[in-house]
Amino acid sequence: MAKLLIRGGTPLKGNVRISGAKNSALPIIVAACLADGESVLENIPRDIDVYTISMILQELGAEIWFDEQKRLHVIPDGLDRYQASYDLVRRMRASFYVTGLLLARLGKAEVPLPGGCALGSRPVDYHLKGFQSLGAAVSIEHGFVKAEASKLVGSKIYINRSSVGTTINLMLAASRAQGSTILENAAKEPEVVDLAIYLNSMGARVRGAGTDVIRIDGVDSLRGTEYGIISDRIEAGTFMVACGITGGELVLENVVPEHLRSTILKCEEAGLEIEETVDTIRVSSKHRPQAVDLETAPYPGFPTDLQQPFAAMMSIADGASIIRETIFDRFRYVDELRRMGADIRVDRDTAIIRGVMELTGAQVEATDLRAGAALVLAALAAKGETEISGVELVDRGYEHLDVKLRQLGADVQRIPEQEEDALQEHLGSPLLEML
Ligand code: UD1
Repeated sequence: MAKLLIRGGTPLKGNVRISGAKNSALPIIVAACLADGESVLENIPRDIDVYTISMILQELGAEIWFDEQKRLHVIPDGLDRYQASYDLVRRMRASFYVTGLLLARLGKAEVPLPGGCALGSRPVDYHLKGFQSLGAAVSIEHGFVKAEASKLVGSKIYINRSSVGTTINLMLAASRAQGSTILENAAKEPEVVDLAIYLNSMGARVRGAGTDVIRIDGVDSLRGTEYGIISDRIEAGTFMVACGITGGELVLENVVPEHLRSTILKCEEAGLEIEETVDTIRVSSKHRPQAVDLETAPYPGFPTDLQQPFAAMMSIADGASIIRETIFDRFRYVDELRRMGADIRVDRDTAIIRGVMELTGAQVEATDLRAGAALVLAALAAKGETEISGVELVDRGYEHLDVKLRQLGADVQRIPEQEEDALQEHLGSPLLEML
């Protein structure tokens, strides 16, 4: 596994450009495959998850590549295969979006169950129920979800619990269904809105995205188009916390401050100073962060994807904070933070963090994407050197995190290992070279 060596203690300073949102890029690349003709997508982050979804769609017959201006071209006209490969789908839960795509485009999908992951059990039962409501016959055979419908038919669907993935998958499927689909208790995340805007620019009829009722009037065909996706609010939040934990001063460029409201409020409560313009956030931290309590919630609540990074900052805060995680089982990073001297007790869905004066460098392992980010942040503040293994998990969702941190003054070194080379060989394609 590749490693990061981080020598902590340098306050981060300077300007950093936030990349496009991974969680928008993934469904939008899939949505581009619903169309006839080429889409050209801008602001797509070149991270491993984007690469994985592109590989899956290429295997199904689409043509996808980055040009020299870093725009992603998607030509779906040759997409005629309905069975997605286990090897790629198992890497990433969002691969399951191809089920909605294949049902809408080919009327048939065979996609491996994404299975469990480091965040605990993450079922797809809401997705499957939704496809059934649209008239698909759905079964699970030999680890594959098999879904079939000669024509999907619009329907009224209540999603049991606000679910980003279910909302997106059903939007994809319903956009070319016959008649109207109403999604109730839909997710309101900015990435859902971004997908709706893109689908509409292709000729779809999606209304209400950003509220908890989304109406999709199915259309017969969609056309490829040019589109620039929103920037990544989770990456932006990660840099805000990086600033707080190191006592730095940063200007985040290419951000949508409105998408970060709850994060900005919590950072301010922790004592960070924040100024916004339309597309930048200036953040500075002159004192040790204050302890803050928080609870994760669907948007516009505090994002679960920033729970771990924020907890890293709380581990050196003045006072004790209580963090409640309501979406996923996301406390596996705690043992690693303890190795660095953090004082954290976990009781079911709640972590009680007593801020210590100083963390110390240690050998630690990233257990998932955001846990890895939390360890990187802790390492930036820690005394001495931290060695973080499992860095490819961080690369799944952050575009060149180590490079960006170095540009801001951090002492970060990447140690690639043989396995990374093996992955490159396995996945070797012009796309990977662009990463
Ligand atoms: C997406 C994001 C992820 C983020 C999460 C919550 C992407 C690629 N990933 O994940 O970064 O942390 O939203 O904001 O956009 N659930 C079920 N059955 C289902 C579907 C979901 O029980 O069929 C549960 C999940 O286990 C979880 C909750 O619903 O407890 C919300 O999950 P969901 O919003 O679907 O998360 P993802 O789309 O997987």
